[in-house]
Amino acid sequence: MTERLRVRVDPDKCQGHARCKALAPELFELDEYGNAHEAGDGTVPPGLEDKAWLAKSNCPEIAIDVIEE
Ligand code: F3S
Repeated sequence: MTERLRVRVDPDKCQGHARCKALAPELFELDEYGNAHEAGDGTVPPGLEDKAWLAKSNCPEIAIDVIEE
């Protein structure tokens, strides 16, 4: 069985590069300053796991955590 993933953005590290939103628009929202936070409670819907890892590896500030639950 596939593990469930959850994404989390560290607001202290995020600098608004928005690559996460470009790569995984289903998983991230941007606020009015362009900083990201996880959509909903951060749970990654089935089928979007690759996008979660892609967003994590493409954030220049290393602000994204992917948690395996
Ligand atoms: Fe922030 Fe990284 Fe996304 S800096 S906007 S979490 S790509």
